[in-house]
Amino acid sequence: MKTFRILFVLFALLGLVQPLAAQESPEDVGALKVGLLPVLDTLPFYIAEEEGYFAEAGVEVEGIPVASPVERDQIMQAGAIDGMLNELTTTATFNRDAVQIQIVIVARIAYEDFPVFRVLAAPSSAIETPEHLAGVPIGVSLNTVIEYTTYRQLTSAGVAPDDIEFQSVPSIPERFQLLMQGQLEAATLPDPLAQAAIEAGAKPVIDDSWYPEYSVSVLSFSVQAIEAKPEAIRRFLLAWDKAVQALNADPEAYRALFLEKVSVPESIEETYEIPPFPRAYLPTEAQWADVLDWLIDKELLDAEVPYEESINSAFLPEVENDFSDALAVFETNCAACHGAMGLDGPAGPDLAGSADIVAMSADDIAAIITDGAPGTAMPGFSDRLSEDEIARLVELVQRWAAGE
Ligand code: HEC
Repeated sequence: MKTFRILFVLFALLGLVQPLAAQESPEDVGALKVGLLPVLDTLPFYIAEEEGYFAEAGVEVEGIPVASPVERDQIMQAGAIDGMLNELTTTATFNRDAVQIQIVIVARIAYEDFPVFRVLAAPSSAIETPEHLAGVPIGVSLNTVIEYTTYRQLTSAGVAPDDIEFQSVPSIPERFQLLMQGQLEAATLPDPLAQAAIEAGAKPVIDDSWYPEYSVSVLSFSVQAIEAKPEAIRRFLLAWDKAVQALNADPEAYRALFLEKVSVPESIEETYEIPPFPRAYLPTEAQWADVLDWLIDKELLDAEVPYEESINSAFLPEVENDFSDALAVFETNCAACHGAMGLDGPAGPDLAGSADIVAMSADDIAAIITDGAPGTAMPGFSDRLSEDEIARLVELVQRWAAGE
């Protein structure tokens, strides 16, 4: 024992235990309170908590459950929380007069087969396609991301803006009931509730997996917290990212936690497939500009809120930050098949760590992305992506393939 202590002192003197001492303790970096709605998007938080990832990263974090977006925004306004799960629409309106909060990462987006919001028709309705929704009042919560994504989904599918009608039903459970009873002919609902509605006879008309750029949720922190406790936020995000990796690698392992923390209808408790989550990705300037256009159009906002002031890229890991443009393109166009970050894709080969790709030239990789691989599921993107975007994707894919 004594020898051990002497050795320890010696090592300490030699500076060999310095790396341990250099790590600031959780008390030094400050504790964080984060407001959480009972929605699927918050699942990585609870995984990080249960697996001890916050403690491991050296940060004290408390989740503050909130029942509604209104309650969440009130306690953020009052300074009772440092961060929260929200969306682009609420971030922009928060920052209307002065920048109060900043987005530090995207929490969730829609993937193929894993929509975030679906527009449904009542079981008794004859509506089948987006065109049939022309002139039909659709139940939504007005002035929220739900109205925004519904509007953008329908106009993208060719419905004329003047033909889109909404009916205000702010409460999600009430919207579900009115739809199922046929008192509402159509409504937009989030998964997993939307899937339970379909299970019980509601008809899927359109969903955001067709247009994933319109319904990202994000983690935002107050500018005070970002100034006072940046190291705590950095550690929080490391733990969040670790939780996302654990979840993507084995979603079933977290079903019990998912059922405990997220409101899930009983009918689909066992069958609902937990979706993949994105990693290290920020909203693009185009996504931000589109949300602002909509808010200004609706007179919910009277002036632009600059992208750089509301989106803070300082917390993304360095490599990801260099490639945040390409990552955003990858998440919306490629991740559904190749998986988040090119790993464990449900319908395409792993790109990360791929020896095949390391052996290919940049031109060969660009050709596959441009023209696709005929006879396989790999589509060509020449009509959807610019040459610049493809060149950036090639660089990103090469970094991943080389394990960087
Ligand atoms: C609908 C599913 C799907 C989508 C979407 C998709 N891929 Fe693929 N991708 C595949 C499949 C399947 C292959 C394997 C083709 C083969 O066997 O030759 C592939 C192959 C590749 C390869 C060659 C890998 C190798 O080892 O030879 C690259 C690079 C690639 N995809 C990149 C992308 C990028 C970048 C995007 C987005 C812009 C994308 N893919 C979107 C399914 C998809």
